[in-house]
Amino acid sequence: MTAHTIDGNALSKQLRTEVAGRAQALKAKGITPGLAVVLVGDNPASQVYVRNKVKACEDSGLHSVLEKYEASLSEADLLARVEALNNDPAIHGILVQLPLPAHIDAQKVIEAISPSKDVDGFHIASAGALMTGMPGFWPCTPYGCMKMLESIGYDLRGKHAVVIGRSNIVGKPMALMLLQKNATVTICHSATPDLKAMTLQADVIVAAVGKRNVLTADMVKPGAVVLDVGMNRNDEGKLCGDVDFDGVKQVAGYITPVPGGVGPMTITMLLVNTLEAAERASK
Ligand code: GUN
Repeated sequence: MTAHTIDGNALSKQLRTEVAGRAQALKAKGITPGLAVVLVGDNPASQVYVRNKVKACEDSGLHSVLEKYEASLSEADLLARVEALNNDPAIHGILVQLPLPAHIDAQKVIEAISPSKDVDGFHIASAGALMTGMPGFWPCTPYGCMKMLESIGYDLRGKHAVVIGRSNIVGKPMALMLLQKNATVTICHSATPDLKAMTLQADVIVAAVGKRNVLTADMVKPGAVVLDVGMNRNDEGKLCGDVDFDGVKQVAGYITPVPGGVGPMTITMLLVNTLEAAERASK
C-alpha cells in the first residue's frame, strides 16, 4: 500500500482564496485586516519566515507591517512597541517573531500582546481558551494539522491519536485540539520508554520533535494518518521532516510531505487568525 499524500500547498491555496474573499468583504465595510510582524535582531531563518508572512498577507489582500529592530533593542522598548500596536486600530494581529535575543523575556513580551490580537495563539489566555473550549486563537501549526485532517474528511471520534513532542507551540495544543474532536490522545516525549509500542496503536500520528527519522515504517500501523511537523536538514542539506517519508509512505494511509505539507499551512492559519481577529473587531 502507498499512502495518499496530503498536499499542504494545494490546501493552502484553497484556504488562502477563501481568506482573500473574506478580506474583500471586510474591506467593503471599510476594514482592512492588518497584521504587524515584529522582528528583533538578524537571525537569518527568522528573516526568511517574516518575509514569507508579510508576502502571504499581501497576496491575500491583508495589510501588513514589518517592524525590524536591532538585536540591542531593550525589553522595555519592545514592550512599548507591543503596547502601541495593541492600541493601533489598523492592526488586528500582532506577531513577535521568536526566538528573541537572550536579554528579552519572550514570555513577558507574548503576555503583553492583547489576547484579542494574539494571532500566534501563544498568549496564556489563548492557551486557556483552547483548553476550555472557549473562543480564542489556536496556534497556527497544530491548527493547520487539524485543517489537513478535515480536508480528508477524517472523523477523529474514538480514534487513537499519538502526538510525539510536547512543546507549547505544537505538541500540547495539538493534543488539546485532537481531544476536542473526541480522539483518545497520547502525548509521547523524550522520556517515553517505548515510543514504538505507542505509535503502533495509533490511528493518527503527529510527529513534532525536530529530529530526523523519529518515526519509521516499523512504528506505524497500516493505514494510519501521519502528519509530519518536523523541519530538519538531511546529510545533503535537503529539507526533511521527522518522519522517514519513503519508508512510512509504504505503510500509512495518508502522509504529509516535507516540504509542501504542514509548513505552508502554518502561514495560512496565521492569515485565517488575522482575518478572524479583524472580523471579531468589526462586530
Ligand atoms: N518562530 C518560529 N515559528 C514561529 C511562529 O510560528 N511564530 C513566532 N512568533 N515565532 C516563530
